[in-house]
Amino acid sequence: MSKKLTLGMFGFGVVGQGLYDIIKTKNLNLEIKKFVIKNADKKRSLPAELFTTDPSAILNDPEINTVVELIDDAEAAYNITVTALRAGKNVVSANKKMIATHLEELTEIQQETGASLLYEGAVCGSIPIIRNLEEYYDNELLHSVSGIFNGSSNYILSKIFNENQSYDQALKKAQELGFAETDPTLDVGGYDPKFKLAIVASHAYGLYIKPDSIFNVGIDRLGPQDIRFAREKGYKIKLIPLAKEIDNSKVVLYVLPKFVSKENILYNVENENNGVLVKAAFADEQFFFGKGAGGHPTGSAVLSDITALRYGYRYEYKKHLDAQQLTYSTDYELQVYLRYEDDTLIEKLQFTSISERYFANDFKYIIGKINLQHIIENQADIKQSGVFIAEIE
Ligand code: HSE
Repeated sequence: MSKKLTLGMFGFGVVGQGLYDIIKTKNLNLEIKKFVIKNADKKRSLPAELFTTDPSAILNDPEINTVVELIDDAEAAYNITVTALRAGKNVVSANKKMIATHLEELTEIQQETGASLLYEGAVCGSIPIIRNLEEYYDNELLHSVSGIFNGSSNYILSKIFNENQSYDQALKKAQELGFAETDPTLDVGGYDPKFKLAIVASHAYGLYIKPDSIFNVGIDRLGPQDIRFAREKGYKIKLIPLAKEIDNSKVVLYVLPKFVSKENILYNVENENNGVLVKAAFADEQFFFGKGAGGHPTGSAVLSDITALRYGYRYEYKKHLDAQQLTYSTDYELQVYLRYEDDTLIEKLQFTSISERYFANDFKYIIGKINLQHIIENQADIKQSGVFIAEIE
């Protein structure tokens, strides 16, 4: 028999509302007893007595056995999650920044308390990648996990490439549709996909890597010259996080835009859709596709976690617990396209080989091989205006 869940929900924004819409259509053995919200004055679609601004109405209620945390503020989400787990309540969260930043500690607390924390909705919206990495790819040697992990950036790139919209126009629309974060720099600067990458890498390889130590560049420095270059060569630009095992001993992680050709499976992943490409030793290549942002797609992943709790589901973190040899590395060579203004940057980056160089009055670029470590060492210069870096096939 499945256990009755009595829920307390923090947040009633895009995902909270989406989740509620789905729950309403089903006859599940669960009750939402309380919503804790930040803004008491906002008009809500549900009876006022269900809402409060007092977190203890959920955290101190012994009847509430399941906390659903869907708020924006990562620090507040962390405090809620830790308090709830320590009180023996199970938690479902969609807060990627909070999970990525505190995963090791949150794993320990789950092991100490026996409470379960699930977060499928935090990574790639509707795509069930975390449970697959945990369960299905348990024994597989994973060569890499990559893809499109940010719906807003992908939406913007699609509108630019397919409909000739301006960057600003497309970003505004992504915000209106509820895809973007409250601070959209997290999306277009490549931070949001980096948080998701840290979580994915953790479940793929059993490593805890702090997001601050992972290099990320987003699409916010994309210029008209880069778009023209891509079009002329038959490429599209996508924002791609990569987790890759090298030399059977190291894992490399970074987020960079990438020029992708028609042959790449990610070329046709458009709008707010996400895609996760898993390359494994025996299963070979597998591809997961689905909506990566929006209330209903993300709400469906959150609901799947909630209902999994009725049967006592928990992540076992087996890959983390098994003694293993993998370490995090930034010593990795990749091929990049770099648009730049100042020639001294080229010297600093120490290209190991150069395959193409172009100079014109308003446009200089270089294509060549470079070590990730040199990119990281010069990231302050690379993140200046006038510079755009992207991987190129
Ligand atoms: N801002 C995120 C995105 C929401 O655009 O992908 C889903 O995590």
